[in-house]
Amino acid sequence: MKELKIKTPTAEYPIYITQGFDKLAESFKKAGFEGRKLCIITDSFVAPLYLETVKSLLSEWDVSHYVFKAGEENKNLDTISDFYRHFIDEKLDRKSVLVALGGGVTGDMTGFAAATYMRGIPFVQIPTTLLAQVDSSVGGKTGVDFMGNKNMVGAFYQPSFVYINSETLSTLPKEQVASGMAEAVKTAYISDKELLSYFNENAPAIKALEPEKIQHVIYSCCKAKAYVVNQDEKESGLREILNFGHTFGHAIEKMSGFKLLHGECVAIGMAAALHLSAAMEKTTQKDMEEAEKLLEFFDLPIRAENFGTDDIYKQMFYDKKTKNGKLNIVLLEDIGRAYTEKNAPEDKVKAAIEHIAGDKK
Ligand SMILES: NC(=O)c1ccc[n+]([C@@H]2O[C@H](COP(=O)([O-])OP(=O)(O)OC[C@H]3O[C@@H](n4cnc5c(N)ncnc54)[C@H](O)[C@@H]3O)[C@@H](O)[C@H]2O)c1
Ligand SMILES: [Zn+2]
Repeated sequence: MKELKIKTPTAEYPIYITQGFDKLAESFKKAGFEGRKLCIITDSFVAPLYLETVKSLLSEWDVSHYVFKAGEENKNLDTISDFYRHFIDEKLDRKSVLVALGGGVTGDMTGFAAATYMRGIPFVQIPTTLLAQVDSSVGGKTGVDFMGNKNMVGAFYQPSFVYINSETLSTLPKEQVASGMAEAVKTAYISDKELLSYFNENAPAIKALEPEKIQHVIYSCCKAKAYVVNQDEKESGLREILNFGHTFGHAIEKMSGFKLLHGECVAIGMAAALHLSAAMEKTTQKDMEEAEKLLEFFDLPIRAENFGTDDIYKQMFYDKKTKNGKLNIVLLEDIGRAYTEKNAPEDKVKAAIEHIAGDKK
């Protein structure tokens, strides 16, 4: 079992990365949770796969569970109210511990419920999607969508520990694995050149989810994200680099009516961002081509064939990252190093979009 210690200005906790759930009870004991009431929160797809196993491994504890209907459309305050009702029925108190068993939707909502129930009770993350394992379970952002706005209501709140069982990825639909891989590749490009080499040298084994290889990717991503968010826990500057590929990607995600997965849009967005980085003479055309090859190898799209350049450009201005009518775009200074570009010339931005759009001449 690999262990990564995360230190934030407000908390300190471990991330365990392993194969299997057999060390789970031990992790709860190490956290000092003996004798506490536990409540597992999971969604309707994950429950039939892992709930019984996890519950039986925690049989020394008084454990209840709550299953909500899977899907981003249920990431809202109504579902949170259902959680609170269950907590009251089960007489959860300030010492009780919530356990998020599932993807980013489960983790974000359980974290938010933990941050707010009785003004804050502990919670544990057991992320079961690659996206949650490499991205959303680290950093302490929790919350729900509100009136069609993603993550509009939330809190920064850190878990007591994160337990990552990479074996859970075996049941994850292929496109969900690919979507998570896009964020992992992103992490390599913005902050970890060594991880990028590792990706290039071990791509087939990583794609096959070989435990040692995928765990190394997860470990490196958690470490890199933890480093970035520690420098900037409340998102004032550096954390922005995590949005590499996202300014273009969010626009495409919106235009697809959220039919394309987030990671798929980030992959397309990275192709555009690398085009722009090359146009700004930071990285090269060859770097862009290499990135595109890697993303395609992981079955990710790199073009938005159904959308036109002008429409994508306009949509980007609606993105929340627009400040003073100017686009802030995260680009690469070099491979493994990102920065926020506030003054990208319009013609170069449009050329980057044209590179990925469907109306290319
Ligand atoms: N907190 C953060 O910093 C942060 C960062 C990125 C994304 N997010 C949030 O994360 C969410 C997306 O996360 P996600 O992609 O994990 O979504 P998700 O939780 O909806 O999971 C995707 C799908 O996979 C299913 N699933 C989960 N684990 C499975 C498994 N092991 N086997 C089979 N099916 C499984 C789920 O039921 C769901 O249908 C979004 O709401 C996004 O806003 C948060
Ligand atoms: Zn993302």
